[in-house]
Amino acid sequence: MSFSLYIHLPWCVKKCPYCDFNSHTLRTELPESDYIKALLADLQQEAALVEGRQLHSIFIGGGTPSLFSGAAIQQLLDGVRACFTLTDTTEITLEANPGTVEQQRFLDYRAAGVNRLSIGIQSFSSAALQRIGRIHNGDEALAAVETARTAGFDNVNLDLMYALPQQTLADAVADITQAIALSPSHLSHYQLTLEPNTLFHHQPPPLPSDELAWDMQQTCQAELAANGFIQYEVSAYAQPQRQCAHNRNYWQFGDYLGIGAGAHGKITHADGRVQRYSKQRHPQHYLQTATTAARFATQETVALKDLPFEFMLNLLRLNAGFTAAQFTQSTGLAWSVIEAIINQALADELLELSQQHYRTTARGQQYLNELLTRFMA
Ligand SMILES: C[S@@+](CC[C@H](N)C(=O)[O-])C[C@H]1O[C@@H](n2cnc3c(N)ncnc32)[C@H](O)[C@@H]1O
Ligand code: SF4
Repeated sequence: MSFSLYIHLPWCVKKCPYCDFNSHTLRTELPESDYIKALLADLQQEAALVEGRQLHSIFIGGGTPSLFSGAAIQQLLDGVRACFTLTDTTEITLEANPGTVEQQRFLDYRAAGVNRLSIGIQSFSSAALQRIGRIHNGDEALAAVETARTAGFDNVNLDLMYALPQQTLADAVADITQAIALSPSHLSHYQLTLEPNTLFHHQPPPLPSDELAWDMQQTCQAELAANGFIQYEVSAYAQPQRQCAHNRNYWQFGDYLGIGAGAHGKITHADGRVQRYSKQRHPQHYLQTATTAARFATQETVALKDLPFEFMLNLLRLNAGFTAAQFTQSTGLAWSVIEAIINQALADELLELSQQHYRTTARGQQYLNELLTRFMA
């Protein structure tokens, strides 16, 4: 089973009005050194539980990890290398915000071992960016990609959002066309959602209708396909051989450690127990507890009856679908546990079977929630 490490760096220059991630406006000096020490103390305790396992990917996400200096990221990755053997093929991604880009910093990240950058572009239109409260403009979005390239990153993901306030179909397509012209290795294309506990949820901006959002998705998807981007998940597109190993591991129900404020982890133990946990969400609380067991906010063993649903929640997102062998290997359960549900979903044309892979049909994607509930205990 694939195995990953997620590292959460929770601060941002300014909280975006649509964001429900565990990110906090930086109001004082960045406690860089203390936070890296806390992360490494957290990691050392986790590493003891998974001794001997090979890490396939590391994702440094946020928040805005590009607020951290090259030296801090070097110290962090050196600490990871002290616990795990990394190879040339270990994918190491860092999320960067175009409003916090410096050439020297990108060079330092590369030297520290980061080999993939994920840039939060969102849009290339300054007006659209302003409407969603971003700290960067269109020129800075373009410059961030250029800086990444000159710093030696050939593996670059661009995050784009669509169905933005007042956005037209032509605006959304213009963003995708611009992104394609930059030839990134990977593109994530998310529909803006109004999440509870965000400013936009309380004061909703004028958003495109569902029909228009659907048109945007369909048109951009066709544009990406015509330009050689392979869609392998609901929102993820990649050039051949450039799928994101880290996200694929989540979607394949793989195991991962999570360190940092609010980070989640999932570990399958030798006896087959699947354990999930999360760390203290508030950065200050996390800093105070990182060296002890109090760093856990939640810890639970997933009940056997919940495993089929958890597996499907992830695997049904992947265009490649899943095999019966993958199900039994990941969950430790017999295929017979879900066989009747699978057969009914095939009969209802929500799933299709080809070359031993079960995949959602177009109808299955449309009724994904209904399909998923069938796997609930
Ligand atoms: C974990 S966020 C962090 C990325 C980085 N901090 C940034 O915003 O530049 C990863 C991506 O999720 C997407 N995202 C965040 N909030 C969203 C929302 N409410 N609806 C849709 N996509 C969202 C954005 O494209 C963002 O780049
Ligand atoms: S920069 Fe990213 S993580 Fe930070 S508030 Fe904005 S969307 Fe959230």
